[in-house]
Amino acid sequence: MKYLRSRSLKRLFSMKRRRFDEEPAKDGDGEEMMGRCDSLKVGGVVEGCFQKPTWKCFSFEEIFEATDGFISENVVGRGGYAEVYRGKLKTGEAIAVKRLTKACTDDERKEKEFLTEIGTMGHVCHPNVSSLLGCCLDHGLYLIFQFSVRGSVASILHNEKLPAMDWKTRYKIAVGTAKGLHYLHKGCQRRIIHRDIKASNILLTDDFEPQISDFGLAKWLPSQWTHHSIVPIEGTFGYLAPEYFMHGIVDEKTDVFAFGVFILEIISGRKPVYESHQCLHSWARPLLNQGDVDKLIDPKLTDKFDDGQMRKLAFAASLCIRVSGTWRPTMSEVLEVIFDDHVDEERWKMPEEEGQGEFWGFEDLESECDSSIFTELSV
Ligand SMILES: Nc1ncnc2c1ncn2[C@@H]1O[C@H](COP(=O)(O)OP(=O)(O)O)[C@@H](O)[C@H]1O
Ligand SMILES: [Mg+2]
Repeated sequence: MKYLRSRSLKRLFSMKRRRFDEEPAKDGDGEEMMGRCDSLKVGGVVEGCFQKPTWKCFSFEEIFEATDGFISENVVGRGGYAEVYRGKLKTGEAIAVKRLTKACTDDERKEKEFLTEIGTMGHVCHPNVSSLLGCCLDHGLYLIFQFSVRGSVASILHNEKLPAMDWKTRYKIAVGTAKGLHYLHKGCQRRIIHRDIKASNILLTDDFEPQISDFGLAKWLPSQWTHHSIVPIEGTFGYLAPEYFMHGIVDEKTDVFAFGVFILEIISGRKPVYESHQCLHSWARPLLNQGDVDKLIDPKLTDKFDDGQMRKLAFAASLCIRVSGTWRPTMSEVLEVIFDDHVDEERWKMPEEEGQGEFWGFEDLESECDSSIFTELSV
């Protein structure tokens, strides 16, 4: 484990130093290591050039002081392997400190995930991706982020005590998340597959701009690889693409599927898994196929939504949750569907036999829900 940590960190810090050099850093294959800052064409709109990320090493004293000694009152979130604390730097900046839980500090895999998160997030820079301020490696492993005042989409959308989220906010979240995911897949030098797109991993800024966070499971795929096979299967049940949980196959379409489920969550206000093992996508699929979008819509929205936007998002979701990854759109295509005023639905028609196979294949999979494979999965 010591070897893993020192080798990974050495590589990481050498990359950070290079960030400020004139020449772009090259890896072993002569490829640039930096996140590319090309402008991206998104739904006919050219998105601006994003700045290169910068982050620093914090001292333990700094983050200890900022979080009032990691008091439990400052805990804002707990995930699979970390606790997240609210904090305030001497400069007044609000931060979130993610600490690898003590129980996981001897777990090599968890430590690797933590380092993966530093490595990946240190390279990304986009308004819809959470930005890493730095890390601390004394007395444990810590990641430091800008603090998201509003928490995650899950904490607002599914909070019965809060008023229902309005349509304008839901639409903004859907579009921003699509742009962030498109950037990860296409805007970085390396293709980044997030692998855990879900409502509790989408944080919100003060003005409800969504930011994709939690890169613990993220993978970088070399450009020449079509996909990657992964064991064990990790992620969140209800968002998992069938080819991933059956065969461990990971590529951009894994995230596209999860994004489709996320859109359904936003439209319907339902959780991705409800009433024991009932999946949101299995409930929504026949309704979408029959064009019964109205039955999907969150009753709490009453009639206060933009019908055109709703229909486009529902159509995009229907494509994203297709069982066959080949028939799912890329994130560029998702953005086209969302923004295009005249979506050519014919273009997305699947051959008859693909459509039929889809339904059967998936229902079969769902009956496997409580098999041991899910011991690795969280809900
Ligand atoms: N930057 C942040 N600002 C505010 N809350 C955060 C921030 N980062 C994480 N959280 C909260 O902590 C929870 C867990 O964080 P996450 O990074 O997803 O950890 P895990 O990998 O353990 O799931 C999130 O769902 C969110 O509620
Ligand atoms: Mg998380």
